[in-house]
Amino acid sequence: MSSQERHYESHWQEEEYYYQNPEFIGQANITDPGIFDRMSLDNFPECYKEFADLLDWDQYWHTTLDTSDAPCWKWFVGGRLNACYNCVDRHLDSYKNKTAIHFVPELEEEPVQNITYQELYRRVNETAIMLRDFCGLKAGDRVTLYLPMTPELPITMLACARLGIIHCQVFAGFSGKACGDRIWDSESEVLITMDAYYRSGKLLNHKANADEAVKAAEEQGQKVNKVLVWRRYPGTYSSSAPVVEGRDYFVDQLLEKYKRQEIAPASMPAEDILFLMYTSGSTGKPKGCQHSIGGYLSYVAWMSKYVQDIHPEDVYWCMADIGWITGHSFIVYGPLAVAASTVVYEGVPTYPDAGRCWRIAEELDVDIFHTSPTAIRALRKVGGDEPAKYNYSFKHMTTVGEPIEPEVWRWYYEVVGKGKAVIVDTWWQTETGGFLCSTLPGIQPMKPGSAGTGLPGIHPVILDDEGNEIQPGEGKAGNLCIKNPWPGAFQTIWKNKERYIDSYYGKYCRDKNSTDWRDWPYMAGDAAVMSADGYVRILGRIDDVINVSGHRLGTKEIESAALAAEEVAEAAVVAVTDEIKGAVPELYVSLKPDYDPSDDLAKKVSDAVADVLGKIAKPSNVYIVPDMPKTRSGKIMRRVLASISSNKDVGDVSTLANPQVVEEIRRQVQSG
Ligand code: WT7
Repeated sequence: MSSQERHYESHWQEEEYYYQNPEFIGQANITDPGIFDRMSLDNFPECYKEFADLLDWDQYWHTTLDTSDAPCWKWFVGGRLNACYNCVDRHLDSYKNKTAIHFVPELEEEPVQNITYQELYRRVNETAIMLRDFCGLKAGDRVTLYLPMTPELPITMLACARLGIIHCQVFAGFSGKACGDRIWDSESEVLITMDAYYRSGKLLNHKANADEAVKAAEEQGQKVNKVLVWRRYPGTYSSSAPVVEGRDYFVDQLLEKYKRQEIAPASMPAEDILFLMYTSGSTGKPKGCQHSIGGYLSYVAWMSKYVQDIHPEDVYWCMADIGWITGHSFIVYGPLAVAASTVVYEGVPTYPDAGRCWRIAEELDVDIFHTSPTAIRALRKVGGDEPAKYNYSFKHMTTVGEPIEPEVWRWYYEVVGKGKAVIVDTWWQTETGGFLCSTLPGIQPMKPGSAGTGLPGIHPVILDDEGNEIQPGEGKAGNLCIKNPWPGAFQTIWKNKERYIDSYYGKYCRDKNSTDWRDWPYMAGDAAVMSADGYVRILGRIDDVINVSGHRLGTKEIESAALAAEEVAEAAVVAVTDEIKGAVPELYVSLKPDYDPSDDLAKKVSDAVADVLGKIAKPSNVYIVPDMPKTRSGKIMRRVLASISSNKDVGDVSTLANPQVVEEIRRQVQSG
């Protein structure tokens, strides 16, 4: 049985359609099914003009798609534009006094900040001048941001975009060490961070993590010259970490000098880089996905307008973190490009109680809501009856990041959406910039547990291991691929074109010398089934990546973090199904001679993983085993450990080098 088929076995069956309510269709931004024909492969790539035309260009482009450096696609070549101008300046004429960002602090007693487009314009300008004049940053430089969910994060991103500076935002929940690795890889000389922020009612000392990050980067040879610290409460330093003279600066103090100053947006080539976003892959080193200005922005603008169905008068809340691609595309760039009011919520969805989300929705009149299956499962578990107590009204909801169980989908639909909001299940990845598969909410019906069809202009196909197409409705699982390039796709892996080609095109490229895009199907790394109507059901990753709460963690990253504990000789990670998070990592370690297993040691290993990668990677269990099950050639059999972890039959292990250890491990794990 292939790995895909194994996935399929444990997955849910196809469900019946749910039809969207006519009121939604009546107001939808797109209801003409002709869009699928207009965006067909016959019209590729010129059809993507429709996307580019959502933006304002300083100079219109002459070539839609340049394939000469395949598979590093260049979109809208010859065009010049500015992403910040498109998200801020161009809205001032019509929407100057409209809220751009509703910032909701975690503490309920702190007032919501409603930042208008005009105010956003001012703050972004002042910040941009500071980046230029105080930091000496210029177009093409990289700067690492390590910022929590406060307005200062989108403001800093847009200030970078205004000058063509490449921002590399690292999720604030990642450890300082993980941030340091990214500073080093992106060669950032400036780090922008915040002193503190709230999580679960506690003011976290984030600056201390930033100091760790600088140290980790410097240990690898990347010097950080300046650390800019936004203060959660301007004027008050809320961290106990020392302020390093000549390196650390408070942004609120620096900005005094630039009050009300303006700076023109830089006119940037469409195919220059907007940002890097790191994600996990099969090897230990995270990949810096490089996203373009013109292609990316036009793609997310289209998705926000037609898949999220955002109108300027909507209040839109995507409850993700801007530190992930979802937040970049669907809290910041997409919604602001279409002049939405976008909500930025600082804290955890269930703080101080299970009704918090629905109170925020009620208070701000949120009508479009976007979250992940993990959050939906958690909200359902802690407060399944809460939504009914609040008088909010959603017309549209999104789920993204992991497969959603049909039962959970139905709770989302009936209880959160009150049987009225349309749902889109959008499948995509850090690499893809924006959605690839989803229903178009005003046109296609929903199906619980399935992401939709390929979106207009996206042509998905399921390939078997030999590269043959599995037909829709055949019921067989395979590798989900996209036949064609699209403007939102990342350009390459930062400084690692070889790994880019290898990971995404290595398996199915028909001719490595070809400049014809038809020879380069994009392999997403997900196993999926396509039903007869073209809807895809995602079964999971085919590589060594674990999807925890919709966030990708590489097993190799976790294993090498475990080896940071000096007692550990070998480590192996497996994914175990979790009721809330979808999957969680379980860790098996064996010890070097002269060390004895103990609960303290298991805890130490678990803490080591959290220290190196962040709390999100913390294993649910650490088992100290006498030896790893191995093949005769010495390879650790993770498959056997995975079966033990999930209480399944381990199969035939007689060919292993040490079959007897399997039974020993099984007894140890299942007894305790
Ligand atoms: C992986 C990408 C997409 C932005 C957030 C995660 C899984 C994503 C879905 C969905 C089932 C999904 C895939 C994909 N995934 N969306 N709607 N249904 N699975 O981005 O961290 O790059 O992870 O998330 O396995 O490959 P990411």
